Amino acid sequence: MDNRPIGVMDSGLGGLSVMRIMRQQMPHESLIFVGDQGHFPYGTKSATDIRRFALNIGHFLVHHHVKMMVVACNTATAEALPLLQVKLPIPVFGVVQPGAQAAIAVKNHQRVGVIATTATTKTDIYPRTLHQLSPDITVFSLATQPLVSIVEHRQTGTPGAQQLVNRQLSPLVGQHLDSLIMGCTHFPFLRTEFRRTLGGDVTLIDPAVETVKQVHHYLQAHKLLADANQRGRVRLFSTGSADHLMQGARVWLHDSTLFGHHLTLDEGIQ
Ligand code: DGL
Repeated sequence: MDNRPIGVMDSGLGGLSVMRIMRQQMPHESLIFVGDQGHFPYGTKSATDIRRFALNIGHFLVHHHVKMMVVACNTATAEALPLLQVKLPIPVFGVVQPGAQAAIAVKNHQRVGVIATTATTKTDIYPRTLHQLSPDITVFSLATQPLVSIVEHRQTGTPGAQQLVNRQLSPLVGQHLDSLIMGCTHFPFLRTEFRRTLGGDVTLIDPAVETVKQVHHYLQAHKLLADANQRGRVRLFSTGSADHLMQGARVWLHDSTLFGHHLTLDEGIQ
């Protein structure tokens, strides 16, 4: 048994889509979340910057005695996961490999769409990982960076959001996709809009579901699960607006008691 928290990071509110599943599936685990709103968005930044941001957050989390780190960001996973795994003295999990595995596990998976940030798409990480798992599939990879801001500014469920989704996903309409990987953790909050644009036949894949399964499995296998008699605590930190993060977290994690702290990475918690 190990009651230390799990550290979770993203560039912004997207990581809450992963936190939400962690809270449902692992309610006993305490979580420390860092939203790097001070550097949002990651998807338009260079690999060097993304690696530096993610590593700084990793050091902060290690300093707060987390037992492992979940990179709840596809962009940071694509650009920084191997570095984090080498540099940090804790296990570090990303979302891309589990996301690709989840897509291949769907019964029909010959034509797989992937939407992601500009940076993630440039790395080609999803097509590469998918083809390693299943060489014969056809992958349609599309950068849809503008969708990230819609979620970060909490404009999901508006006519404007639907129009933007329709426009951004138009290259995928008519491609007879079996599934669509929501390859950015902001995107599951646009699930309803994606469904309206693509219709009901396309399986929407949220990489977080398989990621959380694998995290749980790892903790169990290494006897690192938290005490099953306790309810885990959630602590939220933002390098930007703590209020913004807290408001998003209260809605999306269905917990009105959550409170956010501002974090200046070089100077510690303010
Ligand atoms: N939510 C992140 C991802 O999964 C990053 C979005 C961004 O900051 O551009 O890729």
